Amino acid sequence: MKIDIISCQPGLIDGFFSQSIVKNAIQNNFVEINTHDLRPFGNGNYRQIDDYQYGGGAGMVLMIEPLAKLIRQLQEKTTYDQVIYLTPDGKTLNQKSVNKLSLSKNLLMICGHYKGIDERVRELFVTQEISIGDYVLSGGEIAAAVLTDAIVRLIPGVINDETSALTDSFQDDLLAPPVYTRPADFEGTKVPEILMSGNEKLINDWRLEKSIERTTQRRPDLLTK
Ligand code: 6GU
Repeated sequence: MKIDIISCQPGLIDGFFSQSIVKNAIQNNFVEINTHDLRPFGNGNYRQIDDYQYGGGAGMVLMIEPLAKLIRQLQEKTTYDQVIYLTPDGKTLNQKSVNKLSLSKNLLMICGHYKGIDERVRELFVTQEISIGDYVLSGGEIAAAVLTDAIVRLIPGVINDETSALTDSFQDDLLAPPVYTRPADFEGTKVPEILMSGNEKLINDWRLEKSIERTTQRRPDLLTK
């Protein structure tokens, strides 16, 4: 898989990916991630990339020409499954959409800034608009990092234990059950007996029961989907 990310602060994104599971995935060639600085594509000697909005109002808007120039240059080399714009007014991200995106070959992500991007970029180039939740971040970079992490960990082989990603919270619309490791007794607080029984059927039943219990208490909305 290849993920190209357009940003006016590419350093922010590179920081995320120089660490953790995504870093290992890059090193082991499961994914190629390239950040592309918008600034060199800006207008004129000052490489202007944003301007005041028509109609007045606070906040700068990313201009269409620099974005169009960069997007077109990237599209000459690569056919993208999706051109994703990260924006708080996009469709809220969930595990199902992450699963779908993880089957892509090439993705292009666009990080907005300031007040957003010229609407015509969305009309002409963007195929999917994604938000990571109902709150506003100062830029799309953190959202792109969140989306990339969620996608990359699903690529087969990226996580050591192959079944691990399949048993995540949300993969079956249930929250994950509690987990424990040694010691079996911490100052009198004990690990549930069943988990040490060695009986796989009983353990799976217990986990499902706890998943349902937890989902009912914390996220009843997931059960009625
Ligand atoms: Cl994708 N971008 C920004 N700037 N803020 C957000 C977001 C995205 N998702 C939630 N808040």
